[in-house]
Amino acid sequence: MPAWQEARARQIIETHRTDDGPTLVILQALQREFGFISEEAVVLVADALNLTRAEVHGIVSFYHDFRREPAGRHVLKLCRAEACQSLGGERLAAHGQSRLGVSWGGTTADGSVTLEPVFCLGLCASGPAALLDGRPLGRLDAGRLDRLLDEVAS
Ligand code: FES
Repeated sequence: MPAWQEARARQIIETHRTDDGPTLVILQALQREFGFISEEAVVLVADALNLTRAEVHGIVSFYHDFRREPAGRHVLKLCRAEACQSLGGERLAAHGQSRLGVSWGGTTADGSVTLEPVFCLGLCASGPAALLDGRPLGRLDAGRLDRLLDEVAS
């Protein structure tokens, strides 16, 4: 991911400011470019769209896909929706948090893995489901999750 560049951020905002629903479109584009929504980005978006910073913060915190900090080298998203919960998702989530030593949205101290919740991946029959760096995974249990995390750590 490129480091924050105000000029590039302004260019992205300008490109999308006349789109329908420009706030979400711009925030998504900024996250694609820089990997997260920084405070500098919030300020620029608020100014450009004549919104308060609180309004932009509200949008960023409402949508789980927005990050406020850079992600780790790998991103593990565990499904928190109902079907996966009924198949052991809660136990798996507790194990994942304990194994990584982070809560939702956290990144391990060594920067290797960020843990995020996701709400249904369309893999309900194969729950508990997850995405690891965008790769869909099903029928996870603690042992399989540990092996996957060992792989990405090596
Ligand atoms: S509820 Fe987890 S994939 Fe649908």
